Amino acid sequence: MHLPKAELHLHIEGTLEPELAFALAERNGVALPYATTDELRAAYRFDDLQSFLDLYYALMAVLRTEEDFAELVDAYLARAAAQGVRHAEIFFDPQAHTARGVPIGTVIEGLGRALERSEETHGVSTQLIMCFLRDLSAESALGTLDAAKPYLHRISAIGLDSAEVGHPPAKFREVYEAATALGLRKVAHAGEEGPPEYIREALDVLGVERVDHGLRCLEDPELVERLVADRVPLTLCPLSNVRLRTVDTLADHPLPAMLAAGLHCTVNSDDPAYFGGYAGDNFDAVRDALALDPEQLRTLARNSFEAAFLDHDEERRARYLSEVEAYAFD
Ligand code: ADE
Ligand code: ZN
Repeated sequence: MHLPKAELHLHIEGTLEPELAFALAERNGVALPYATTDELRAAYRFDDLQSFLDLYYALMAVLRTEEDFAELVDAYLARAAAQGVRHAEIFFDPQAHTARGVPIGTVIEGLGRALERSEETHGVSTQLIMCFLRDLSAESALGTLDAAKPYLHRISAIGLDSAEVGHPPAKFREVYEAATALGLRKVAHAGEEGPPEYIREALDVLGVERVDHGLRCLEDPELVERLVADRVPLTLCPLSNVRLRTVDTLADHPLPAMLAAGLHCTVNSDDPAYFGGYAGDNFDAVRDALALDPEQLRTLARNSFEAAFLDHDEERRARYLSEVEAYAFD
């Protein structure tokens, strides 16, 4: 729980807890189809990625103002800091907001306002990763990238998320080329529900530097060999995998085998308000279900800082890494 760690796979909209959702709904005059927070929580039973996404997008209706986005970030950072997170690279889904009439500037300035005081307030360094919804068109993604141009000083990288199957990475080749030209780093969800081929495409066509999830690489031994040889970080999300039924139970999660194979695994929370826990909860859960020993946990934490986009601040990375080495497990 308190082992210093970087969170590299976290959708800020997925940190919207029922209590905050109800508070924002009331403040903004948005009607929710649930009477109580308990009733809403009871709806958090998912069959697959799409059944989760349906609720995730619907609940975003409560997010309307800069202040709403800033409050969302503050609530997340407080929880993350309490669970040992020292650095967070945070996804957001601008198209899920602009489609509802919320201007992209409201979203980015609201998030940015809370993020710029995060080190001071929460002791967590942060970066922002703008994700494109892969079930929308490449044109929509290009338009979003263009609309984000006045705010690029707040954005480190781009990502690709939402419904994976049927929306291969190559669909977004042009978008990733345009982002590269703007100096942005690149990640993409691949191999969560989609086949190993999507992971190859994300690497070869989009040029991603980390793969978000990447779980299904295990079906392709040659791909595993390549990921190991190139030390490509995978941002795994164990509790998410159980809730979205990509693994049956946490005890069946292939994380130990992936570590043993030499894959550069990291452990993250994805959408913690929906999947039963934040970064530290994920660490505790895999420790308990998979009997990970302290050195395996330390490796996961070390991997997270090695995979972080901290190239512009190697001193900070070294400081975080020395915190990991100095951590005493009790
Ligand atoms: N958006 C939010 N969470 C996601 C996930 N686990 N996979 C794809 N898109 C997402
Ligand atoms: Zn995700």
